[in-house]
Amino acid sequence: MLDEVLAALAPRDGGIYVDGTFGNGGYTNGILSSADTRVIGIDRDPTAIANAQDMAAAHQGRLTLVSGCFGDMAVLVPPVLGSMGVPAADGIALDLGVSSMQLDQAERGFSFRLDGPLDMRMDAGAGDTPSAADVVNTYEPKDLAQIFKVLGEERQARRVAQAIVRRREDEPFTRTADLADVVAQAIGGKPQRIHPATRVFQALRIYVNDELGELARGLMAAEKLLVEGGRLAVVSFHSLEDRVVKRFLAARSGAVANPSRHLPEAVAGPEPSFRLLSRKAQEPTDAEISRNPRARSAKLRAAERTSAPMHEVDMSEAGLAALGLPRMMAGLVAEGGAA
Ligand SMILES: C[S@@+](CC[C@H](N)C(=O)[O-])C[C@H]1O[C@@H](n2cnc3c(N)ncnc32)[C@H](O)[C@@H]1O
Repeated sequence: MLDEVLAALAPRDGGIYVDGTFGNGGYTNGILSSADTRVIGIDRDPTAIANAQDMAAAHQGRLTLVSGCFGDMAVLVPPVLGSMGVPAADGIALDLGVSSMQLDQAERGFSFRLDGPLDMRMDAGAGDTPSAADVVNTYEPKDLAQIFKVLGEERQARRVAQAIVRRREDEPFTRTADLADVVAQAIGGKPQRIHPATRVFQALRIYVNDELGELARGLMAAEKLLVEGGRLAVVSFHSLEDRVVKRFLAARSGAVANPSRHLPEAVAGPEPSFRLLSRKAQEPTDAEISRNPRARSAKLRAAERTSAPMHEVDMSEAGLAALGLPRMMAGLVAEGGAA
């Protein structure tokens, strides 16, 4: 959704933009080519940052690369802005999920089609967070089922969790193809349009990378980093992600209904810190979907920062605790997710 994201960001000469999900640099290239801008490109995958060194050199100081998570933008970005002599950013783009490059490399362990080590961490090796293998080999069946049900919308979540637990008693999982086979057998049934392990793999990936917690922290960081009039554009691919973005922007733009029309303004909440650019999420055009079928579930939400002070940082607003996911990552722990 590059064209739509660029239309939302409306890059201007002299502007400084944060691409929080640098990937292959497609969005960054678009921002750098549409005006005389500078970009701070962030990615948690060290390979994405390493691959971008030539691109940064070619742009001669207009592209600064940062290795890290966009959930930590509030800490990572101010020193870079400071070195550029500005206090705030003019735009922030987030294109959530994994890149085609990550999916297509068997050794990254994201794919059920290509056999590889069962890992799925975008920043494998950067910390001591559990890999997908750690999760499937050690979690309680009820926790596995909750992950598959909530993050994968897998209707047979319990049956899949039980099959995994039965199999791991004989031999722990180490490879993606092995897990994909066990999941496919547990689900059974007629051949489907998508691989039967798609939903379980998606759920594990979102879980091990704490993608929903990252998103909630990233949105709050964006509120802090944007200048008045600065734009935020978020592309999501999963209904839960879209719900987190929608809830955040609704709360921050004053679109959440006043609990009572009898309450005075002051009780209704703080002044809106964002103005929605459109009420509904934008979806990709048919032409884009036929060019890139992975874009079919994309949704773009965009908003403009107002002059109002940022609202209080409150992770519970994202509604993640209600998902009942097992505790693991900072975001879920901070919010007191189910133990
Ligand atoms: C869908 S791709 C982005 C593609 C990019 N817009 C492009 O045009 O090439 C998502 C990228 O964001 C990175 N990513 C995902 N979650 C992240 C996070 N929380 N912090 C930083 N990078 C993240 C992934 O490693 C991946 O490279």
